[in-house]
Amino acid sequence: MSPHTPPSPHTPIIAIANHKGGCGKTTTAVNLAAELGRAGHSVLLIDMDPQANASLHVGRLHPSEVTADCAALLLGGPELLAEAIHEETALPNVSLIYGSLALGLAEDKLREESPRPAEELAQKLAPALGVYDVILIDCPPSLKLLSSNALAAATHVIIPVESGSQYGLYGVSDLTRHIEKLRRVNPSLRVLGALLIRHDPRLTVCRLIEDAAREQLGSLLPVRIPTSTKISQSVILKQSVHTVDGGSKVARAFEELAAHVAQALSLPRTAAR
Ligand SMILES: Nc1ncnc2c1ncn2[C@@H]1O[C@H](COP(=O)(O)OP(=O)(O)OP(=O)(O)O)[C@@H](O)[C@H]1O
Ligand SMILES: [Mg+2]
Repeated sequence: MSPHTPPSPHTPIIAIANHKGGCGKTTTAVNLAAELGRAGHSVLLIDMDPQANASLHVGRLHPSEVTADCAALLLGGPELLAEAIHEETALPNVSLIYGSLALGLAEDKLREESPRPAEELAQKLAPALGVYDVILIDCPPSLKLLSSNALAAATHVIIPVESGSQYGLYGVSDLTRHIEKLRRVNPSLRVLGALLIRHDPRLTVCRLIEDAAREQLGSLLPVRIPTSTKISQSVILKQSVHTVDGGSKVARAFEELAAHVAQALSLPRTAAR
């Protein structure tokens, strides 16, 4: 691995990463994308997970129907980028690069064939920089090459942590070590903060996880995402939680998260509201 120069022009790229399964990565990626789009930012959402849950949630097509997907982009030439970006999604101002099962095979092929296996995404995304106001990457639940590609391309990481679970921080030191390792390739990578998911301040377990997350991960985002049945409804309806129930606590929490991210990263607003 060799250090690469920061890409220019600048577009913040936020990887939503944690190898712990089911901690809220996809929910965060989809609803943060939705809220940033609603606020007038143009957003590119990249699904790096073979499970393709983000694509199933917001895509107009079934991932199995899409040939120019994230796997094809990782393995193919830079000319594939334009074809891989699908502008039609369920979310206004949000474009999508689909994930699919093929990402699993792509990961093996990259390991065997690419001279810089962790840097394929960063290289392929270079022409999209300056085109979108922000790029979000939904990572898979592993610390293997797909996540490494996301972290090598990213400027920032958000780490969702399930605060309602006593196992919420299990293995988090492996994640911080992995981020540290990726800094050899991508020295400017910054942790934007941990995001507490399914948080209920009345519960002792949530307060204990909150303190431990602050200690182990350094920074906590100032927004807490509560538990809500609106989340699973929104997945079934293929909508954001805001569209399902804009007045709900969970929808307001994602709106606050987007406002915080937009302000922290000084995101421009180049899309219509
Ligand atoms: N705040 C919440 N309230 C209620 N349910 C939630 C909440 N956040 C996520 N969920 C549910 O928890 C499950 C896991 O969430 P999600 O898919 O976002 O996690 P993930 O980290 O992307 O999982 P994976 O590691 O498999 O990719 C989903 O069924 C989702 O609907
Ligand atoms: Mg997921």
